[in-house]
Amino acid sequence: MKTLDLISRITVYEDHSELPIEWQDLLDKAHEAAKKAYSPYSNFKVGAALLLNNGEIITGNNQENAAYPSGLCAERTAIFYASAQFPEVPFNKLAITAINPKEKLTKPVSPCGSCRQALLEYEQKFKQRIEVLLAGEEGEIYVLKSISDLLPFSFSNDYLP
Ligand code: THU
Repeated sequence: MKTLDLISRITVYEDHSELPIEWQDLLDKAHEAAKKAYSPYSNFKVGAALLLNNGEIITGNNQENAAYPSGLCAERTAIFYASAQFPEVPFNKLAITAINPKEKLTKPVSPCGSCRQALLEYEQKFKQRIEVLLAGEEGEIYVLKSISDLLPFSFSNDYLP
């Protein structure tokens, strides 16, 4: 018998001003996108900004629906749009943030499991890591080197016949 460790490393920045400028810009764009979320049911607004290898930045936000499961998270809105518009262009950075109008979000938002799985598909498709930044409205900001750090031991097309 043996044990295996699943280890992810997170770089923690104290706040927005400590971030490298490229990340500041991407986070600002994610924040602007969050403001435009359609979230009348949860009132929780999430924004995502993706930097493509061609320099293009694609943003997305959560889109809710009266039939709750029909809505879509910000991260998948952004990456599906980006992949639809630029199917052959890999992604290299993703910033995710959120706004909670009821109570200021003081810790980094963490993407849901379905988004992690969907994002991972593109990392594997392009064989290129996507760095991820997770931020709240204030407080510490986390940066991870890869989507796979958010979803270790994942299911992937390696398993498929
Ligand atoms: N949401 C996102 O957009 N991304 C996440 O990673 C977590 C949750 C959205 C879905 C829903 O519109 C609202 O936040 C509350 O769950």
